[in-house]
Order: sequence, then C-alpha cells, then structure tokens
Amino acid sequence: MTIDTIPKTDAKKAPAAFDVERIRKDFPALSLSVYGKPLAYLDNAATSQKPESVIEAEANWYRESCANVHRGVHALSVRATAAYEGARRKLQGFVNAADAREIVFVKGTTDAVNLVASTFAKSRLDPGDEVLITGLEHHSNIVPWQLVCEERGAKLRVARLNDDGEVDMEEFERLLSSRTKMVAVSHISNSLGTINPVERMIELAHARDVPVMIDGAQAAPHKRIDVQALGCEFYAISSHKMFGPTGVGALYGRLDLLASMRPYQGGGEMIRTVSFESTEYAEPPARFEAGTPNIAGAVGFGAAVDYLLAIGLDKIEAYEEGLLAYATEKLSAVPGVRLIGTARHKAAVLSFVIDDVHAHDVGTILDQEGVAIRTGHHCAQPVMDRYGVPATSRASLAFYNTREEVDRLIAGLAKIREVFGV
Ligand code: ALA
Repeated sequence: MTIDTIPKTDAKKAPAAFDVERIRKDFPALSLSVYGKPLAYLDNAATSQKPESVIEAEANWYRESCANVHRGVHALSVRATAAYEGARRKLQGFVNAADAREIVFVKGTTDAVNLVASTFAKSRLDPGDEVLITGLEHHSNIVPWQLVCEERGAKLRVARLNDDGEVDMEEFERLLSSRTKMVAVSHISNSLGTINPVERMIELAHARDVPVMIDGAQAAPHKRIDVQALGCEFYAISSHKMFGPTGVGALYGRLDLLASMRPYQGGGEMIRTVSFESTEYAEPPARFEAGTPNIAGAVGFGAAVDYLLAIGLDKIEAYEEGLLAYATEKLSAVPGVRLIGTARHKAAVLSFVIDDVHAHDVGTILDQEGVAIRTGHHCAQPVMDRYGVPATSRASLAFYNTREEVDRLIAGLAKIREVFGV
C-alpha cells in the first residue's frame, strides 16, 4: 500500500430518497435477533446504532492512517491530521459555524457542559450571581452548573414545567435578572422529547446580555442545527447519539469567547510555549484539546455527519414526525397507559407509565419480545419528581424505525397487561 496524504475517510453516501427499508440495511445491528426475535431497537435517545460507513471509516483510519495528529512530519501523521481536521470541518458545516476553529472536539455533551461551566462560567460568576436552567434538564446539564455555583457562591435557578412537559416561559422570563450570568437549556428533552423554544429563550437571555449554552445532544440526530441562526454562545452535541462512535462529541463556541477562555485541562497540544516559570496557551480549538484526542472517533463522527447530511435532516424530521404521530395514537389507545410529556412540539420520544406495573418489568418483558426500550429515570430525576413517578418506560425513535416496530411495542404492552392482569 502506498501512503499519500489524502485521507480515505469519506463516508459512503446514503441513498438520496428516504427509503426506510433501504436505510435499515446500512445498519448491521438492525438485523440482529434477540431471544430468537428480530430486534426492534427503540432506545435511540440512550445511544443510536451505527451505519456500516461509520464503522468502516473508523476501522479504515486504524488500518491506513493511524498516527498522532499535529505532531509528526511523517506521511502517516500528516494523513491523520488531515483526517482529524477534515472531521472538524464536517462538524463546522453540520452546525453551520462560521469558522472551523469554533468546533472543539470533546468526549461528548457532558464533557462540553463541564468545559463551559468550569472555564467560561466560573470566570464570570461572583457570589450572589445566578445560572438559569429549566426543569427539563438531563443531569449533565444540572450537576456541572451546581458544581460551579457551589464553588463561586452563586445560585442555580430553575424554570418549572407545566403538566405537558413544557417550560413555563413566563417563569423563564421572570427568572432572568441582572443576577443571571448564564443560561443553559436543552434543545430537546431526553426524558420527555419536548422541543424547547430555544430561539425565544436565546432572545430573552440576550435582551439581558446573558450568554446561552444549548445542550443539543438529543436535537442533533433529529433536526437541522444552525448555530449562526440561533445566535447562541455555545452548543454541544454527542457523536454516539448521531449514529457515530461513542466517546467523542463537539462543542461549538463563539470564537471570540473561546479565545478569551482559560483552558479546561492542561497537557500536550494546548500550549504554545512551556517553561517552568510560565505557559502560553495555544489558540482555540487546540487550547481545549489537551492530550492525544479521540482521532478515530472524530473521523467516525465525520462519517456520521456525512451519512446524516446525505439523507437530509429535513427528510429525517418529517419522517420521524409521522412515526411519532402514529406511535402516540397507538400508545394512547392502550388501556392503563399514561403518556408523560405531551408537549405541542415534540421529538420522537414516548415516555409512559402503566398502572400498577413497574417500568423495569415493562422493559424486561418487552426485551423478551425483542423490543429494546429504556426504563428508569433517564438521568433526569427532577423530571420524574415533577410528574410524581420514580421511573418511566421510554421508547425513543430514530429515522430507521418503522410502524411495524411500533406495532410490536404495542403488542408487547398487551402481553404485559395480560401477565399483570391490568
Ligand atoms: N442521556 C441518555 C439517555 O437519555 C443516556 O438515555
């Protein structure tokens, strides 16, 4: 094999037309059987399955381009660097950032929130200041803010939810004050599927000069993201929710803000010069990428972005809307089932409880039928508390799911009612 400097990391293109049966063939895991039954994978909010093109892009990087990035002059290192920086440009395009330097590779959304909380927010918070979040947040968009508030003597404020699982926007607005130094909200709730009115939230925050971080982990697999149109200061996404590898994600940060921030971690790659007396930091994004990054993961992430864009986020969103409407109608008709989260604007997440049956029993029996869902608090205990339930059963759909799989979920629920006599 000859080594040239052109990385062979581009993903195979997905079919242009939205053909779910054709698309399913791209995902090896979707042909698996469990307990002798075909797998119906309805746990996409936890993590998504990966197309062959992503698996190949990552494996091929190890086969043909494995070297460290930004360090070597040899051909493989040049090739690895081109692949890694190429992935960054793909992410830039995906979120429509103005500049590739606004994309920081991180471990995932959790890492991104911790980065922003412990650098940007920490330097801006004084005792008595406030960080505003919503009652819908995942623990990863609560705890990092609690940590920094505790450290700085600041206060975490929470905009509550209505009975449908929507943020009370009057309260959100009321809670914004001269003390608010940061707003952090999810674009789409992982536990209920609510799509937050982030445009309005950003507008309200900016009217008071408050910077906004959006947790986009659940939005990026389902919706077109445009950080310039949103105008948010930070936006975080996770590859593994977007049909890419685990352990890698991207933080979008406005360049002038990233350039003003202290590093998150110290180490190799994030410096310009080091002496025992002082260290000069590198410019972003390197400043925030200490140590050898997850290069293969970033390359696979780039392939996932190629895959999503080849299908088209608008087509994905339209297909999933239809699937959600179908699933909502079917699920609502099952006696004893109560949907938690009935927001007007929802992504394809169905959280529900069944009278007198624990969510874990629901999950276990469905599993025996080959239907994979998540049960528990979904790393959103405050949401569970709000609706007075310890846990829900959650089916979360992706563009490769079908009505037939939804029917199998419904048939599984009939079986559960039979077993429990409810
Ligand atoms: N945040 C992931 C979920 O909602 C793990 O399941």
